[in-house]
Amino acid sequence: MNVLVIGTGGREHAILKALRKSPRVENLYCMKGNAGTAEIATNVDVDFMNAEAVKKYATSHPEIDYYVVTPDDPLAAGIVDALESVGKRCFGPSKAAAEIESSKSFAKDLMKKYGIPTARSETFTDYGLALEYLRRVGAPIVLKADGLALGKGVLICDTLSQAEEALKEIMLDRAFGAAGNRVVVEEMLRGLKYTPGEEVSLLCFTDGKTVKPMITACDHKRASDGDRGLNTGGMGTFSPCPFWTPEDEEEVMRTIVRPAVDGMRAEGRPFKGCLYVGLMRTDGGYKVVEFNCRFGDPETQVVLPMLKTDLLDIFEAVTDGRLSDIDIEWEDGACVCVVLASGGYPIHYDKGDEITIGNVEDADIVHAGTARKNGRLVTNGGRVLDVVAKGKDIDDARRKAYAAVAGIEWRNMQYRHDIGIKYREG
Ligand code: AMP
Ligand code: GLY
Repeated sequence: MNVLVIGTGGREHAILKALRKSPRVENLYCMKGNAGTAEIATNVDVDFMNAEAVKKYATSHPEIDYYVVTPDDPLAAGIVDALESVGKRCFGPSKAAAEIESSKSFAKDLMKKYGIPTARSETFTDYGLALEYLRRVGAPIVLKADGLALGKGVLICDTLSQAEEALKEIMLDRAFGAAGNRVVVEEMLRGLKYTPGEEVSLLCFTDGKTVKPMITACDHKRASDGDRGLNTGGMGTFSPCPFWTPEDEEEVMRTIVRPAVDGMRAEGRPFKGCLYVGLMRTDGGYKVVEFNCRFGDPETQVVLPMLKTDLLDIFEAVTDGRLSDIDIEWEDGACVCVVLASGGYPIHYDKGDEITIGNVEDADIVHAGTARKNGRLVTNGGRVLDVVAKGKDIDDARRKAYAAVAGIEWRNMQYRHDIGIKYREG
């Protein structure tokens, strides 16, 4: 089969690498891709936010049998619906199902309706009413712009004055544009054992009926060591989550994941694709921090290397509604991903710096924001490379990943030195 993956980042490169292992895959394509995807796929320069352009490409390329749509923006824009309308087979949710991520108030209403544990919340479209509510409940409190905001629309407020400032930023200054038409004001969740709290990402395959969880991963959202600095798209991940037990998986599947998938079906929005469940372990059990309608980035980079089952087989089973027929198997051991970013990320950063990659024997290099300029590999984004290593445990994988990082450089490279250390038990 010929398969095209839509997206530009490390997650897409990781998916392409996993698909490359399938004996049934012939040619791979990436719309639009990066310098890394170009090594294993043909990059296609079409604007994937333009449904008409994507449909035109799909109808004039009958040789492509299957499409995988992974970023939040094209999913929210209905690119899967557009491709299906011209008879193409896809992996990814419809626009209506993608609202579980693209509207935080929709996700909160779904959770309320189906009794799924999450932080208590209220949604406001009116600034005055929201302010009144904030003053009544006080801090600490969490404010979330309703729509997509590049992962930056969540403001954690320790004091009431921070909360008032955050509300102004979202609703009056429109710091996140139309995403701030509505604001979700949410109770601050606390972890059971760690501060600021233990979070785990559980990615699940679902065909709308059957759900199969993947192995767990932990992200590091803040830019700097020790969870300091601004929130980013993710500076590194490791898998599996050290505190996660089989009993936890049973609880989360029973109280959260299955009710969410069944609820989406009952709402007439069956969710097909990868449902990302962001969880916090609290003293009242696991609670949902967020749902995403797609593979996480950089969670995918540590989860897919551990997958033993053919990824294309799973994707097609999701599309055809026969996921219950597939056994999904995972490797033992652990995987760590260290993100190498441009200096200044996530605010201002340069592009076009030449990258040198030395000895990276025990690791795999996934490209996130790279390009080729006159044959040279250069930076082309905030997150540039993902260094991924497997090991017998997290420490072993971590050692291998950082040994490879030492052989990579460009002007102003920045990364976290503490990926894989948190949540050590004991
Ligand atoms: P999100 O974009 O929804 O993943 O939020 C980004 C980060 O903000 C999460 O990974 C959490 O660390 C934090 N966060 C979001 N909602 C809450 C909450 N209700 N309580 C505590 N932390 C939260
Ligand atoms: N790593 C977090 C996300 O993909 O949203």
